[in-house]
Amino acid sequence: MLGSSAGARERRFHPDHEVMQLPAKVKLVDVSPRDGLQNEPGTVATSLKIELIDRLAAAGIQLIEAGSFVSPKWVPQMADTAEVLAGVDRGYGARYAVLTPNIKGFQGAVDSGADEIAVFAAASETFSQRNLNCSIDESFKRFAAVCKAAKVKGVPVRGYVSCVLGCPYEGEVPPEQVAVVAERLHGLGCYEISLGDTIGVGTPGRARAVVETVAGVVPVAHLAAHFHDTYGQALANILAVLERGVAVVDASAAGLGGCPYAKGASGNVATEDVLYMLHGLGIETGVDLDAVVAAGLFICGALGRSPASKVTQALEGRINA
Ligand code: HMG
Ligand code: MG
Repeated sequence: MLGSSAGARERRFHPDHEVMQLPAKVKLVDVSPRDGLQNEPGTVATSLKIELIDRLAAAGIQLIEAGSFVSPKWVPQMADTAEVLAGVDRGYGARYAVLTPNIKGFQGAVDSGADEIAVFAAASETFSQRNLNCSIDESFKRFAAVCKAAKVKGVPVRGYVSCVLGCPYEGEVPPEQVAVVAERLHGLGCYEISLGDTIGVGTPGRARAVVETVAGVVPVAHLAAHFHDTYGQALANILAVLERGVAVVDASAAGLGGCPYAKGASGNVATEDVLYMLHGLGIETGVDLDAVVAAGLFICGALGRSPASKVTQALEGRINA
């Protein structure tokens, strides 16, 4: 029935969208402080990260991925995550998430007062080795320990599956392989499984197919889309999965980012571009587009780069950073 809600997340459908079955409301997760900045070649000052996060929170983003507690030898850009979390303004009511690949990372997250954590598995064996230095099975042993400890402390855990639409080392990844990993994460207690097109190679039909397959083992209300935009397909892919019931979208201000272990992969879809599309469709987000554009211009100005977001490029000049 249209207008009803199920579980924690509202599943109402917009009255104009009976045919397309789009959600009336979408939750935006901004991952720019982590996924966006983890790949920056130069050092990004902690104060810049804090200002970016505060601007995103002020814009109305409810969940911000603020950093990661991973090996600083592997990802030096995230080494100051504890300082970042200590410096953000908690007055906006946003929640702050961090990546934690193992118990050491979990301890760092708890000590720093992160609101939630994320474990990150891969659907491809080679990517798991490159990103986590272990097999998929071995990564799950670590995640099981993290999820157990998180349960004791009452910390919610999000789970990522990388390479859902392709692997930089193994090529195409069958949706069934993605479903196995997603189901394992769900089984560990992850409240949401974010499906990562890590290298941005997907197209709408394949994005829809992977969601349909995974939804066979994890309820679609627990799935999120995390699409990188390497081939310019991310918005189309998001629309395709919204039509299949996904109502949580990960995005990065200004389209910043990439994964250090996926060469050639560009940033996540830009938060501004997703907001513009969603608002144009009459979908509620609770996020102020102009404020995110200003946040994107701010961080790009500080990094000395042009925003990848088409919406920011279009609005630049009309909005003060
Ligand atoms: P390892 O070298 O096998 O780890 O790396 P180890 O357990 O043998 O420890 C080696 C050293 O690392 C030790 O220090 C540990 O203390 C330290 P040492 O004795 O040499 O001085 N260490 C840590 N330090 C801080 N925090 C920790 C931690 N763990 C160990 N948590 C490890 C294994 C998992 C640590 C490593 O592979 C790693 O850090 N990987 C993370 C890689 C990463 O962050 N990738 C990017 C994020 S994933 C992504 O972008 C995809 C996503 O966006 C979704 C998508 O787009 O698909 C999420
Ligand atoms: Mg990513």
